[in-house]
Amino acid sequence: MPKYDVVIVGSGIAALTAAYKLSSKNNVIIFTKSMHTSSNSFLAQGGIAACIGHQDTWLSHFTDTITAGCNHNHEEAVEQMVKSGPIYLSNLIKDGMQFDVDKSNNLLLGKEGAHSTRRILHAGGDSTGRKLVLHLLDKVKRNVQIIENEMAIDLLMYNKRCIGVETKNKNGTVKQYLGSDIILATGGCGGLYSFTSNDDSITGDGLAMAFRAGAELTDLEFIQFHPTLLNCNGKGSGLISEAVRGEGAILVNESGKRIMKNVHPLEDLAPRDVVARALFHEIENGRNVFLDISMIKNFKSHFPTITAICQINGIDIEKGLIPVIPGAHFLMGGVKTDGRGRTSLNGLYAVGEVACTGVHGANRLASNSLLEGIVYGNLVADDILSNNSPNDYMNEISFKTNNQKSQLIDLPTKRQIQQLMMDHVGIVRDKKSLRYAVDWLESYKKKYDGFSLTTTLTIEQLIMVNMITVGWLITTSALMRTESRGGHFRADFPNDDNLNWYKREIVRTNQTNDVLTGI
Ligand code: SIN
Repeated sequence: MPKYDVVIVGSGIAALTAAYKLSSKNNVIIFTKSMHTSSNSFLAQGGIAACIGHQDTWLSHFTDTITAGCNHNHEEAVEQMVKSGPIYLSNLIKDGMQFDVDKSNNLLLGKEGAHSTRRILHAGGDSTGRKLVLHLLDKVKRNVQIIENEMAIDLLMYNKRCIGVETKNKNGTVKQYLGSDIILATGGCGGLYSFTSNDDSITGDGLAMAFRAGAELTDLEFIQFHPTLLNCNGKGSGLISEAVRGEGAILVNESGKRIMKNVHPLEDLAPRDVVARALFHEIENGRNVFLDISMIKNFKSHFPTITAICQINGIDIEKGLIPVIPGAHFLMGGVKTDGRGRTSLNGLYAVGEVACTGVHGANRLASNSLLEGIVYGNLVADDILSNNSPNDYMNEISFKTNNQKSQLIDLPTKRQIQQLMMDHVGIVRDKKSLRYAVDWLESYKKKYDGFSLTTTLTIEQLIMVNMITVGWLITTSALMRTESRGGHFRADFPNDDNLNWYKREIVRTNQTNDVLTGI
């Protein structure tokens, strides 16, 4: 069995940041189920939030993060992120990463929703994620092996320690790789919804794997819907960055009426959950919604990625109106970690969107996700570098591969799961719709519960099993939380309930009963 110091699953910013730092002293391998550029990081348009402007302070960034997160955030984690972010970013810049600057070489800072000042660093206008991923790929290319089109299907456990991953490639070959430390960096679960800004490959695989292995997961009911995906004949298709509203664009309905006026003091730059719900109601009432961009000069040069998305989809931006619709964007919850990215399983770290570090609370502040990926990518690497993880068991281990063919033939299609989640576990939820979704998901889940079958499934079947598992976890958590907060809105409990739910988390594992904790 191949042995490594560190095995990383996923290839976004958090994965590459950790890999880069670790690779000087460690033998690191990265697996990705698709191409190494198939990540949400690569698609990220907005940028990276950091308190580096002259007027800005860490306290202001901290306060904006907590306010957007509806006070559900872990405050120490937020403080750590906003204070250390500018240091890691300045290291990136010293290392050659080029963010957009003005003629005098000062960093250009953008504005996005719920930020009280301009603090978003960007690169290539709206290609920040792509530029950052390519920068990091260039750094790791000599020392880190990246295996594409090989999906991690399960975590390997030995004596209660995570010691590796089992993978499957498109030909159905199953392999095992051992690592002294394992890092999950598989992103979130936007692909569970029919409208999403996420890469097609993001189907909650890391969350399902961690759950099967016995890790704690938390805050899964908090899903952020981005208000403005491009509306292409009633379907969400590509992101229209919030940075566009940061430059002055406004949301209007088909009669030209401003949607966010009088809804929130920050109007079009209100927190995302507020804007997404306002758009949801407009659309429910049969009215189309548009982003009026007519006031933005040099739109094409400022937003080249969005211009290209519009062109590909036949939208003429010269007319000044882009049709938009909300869609699933970001999971605030995930595999529960401490301040160094350690999960509840020895040997297993989680970083980026698959992790719940507590920084985002119930609703992530715009452009805090790339920041989190960079900060925690570094923290995870530091923790691994400072530990001497045991690896003496590696020589005595062997795993049997179950090569039986799958008995599981009756699974729903990806589209059916996405439609269920969008219609019943979406922007506005209630007991009846959640109950319907739980029953539907359980009718499939009971067919595979209790079996250890991942190696016997095709990759396509396994993705459905993962989507059902994560969909069920999200839906049952949403049913439990009888209040509304951030990315979790219940029409039957439309207000927050601080008496019963303030700073309380729903923690899920496959071993014990679900636990409700105070943070
Ligand atoms: C956006 O560009 O609107 C998305 C940025 C983010 O989600 O942080």
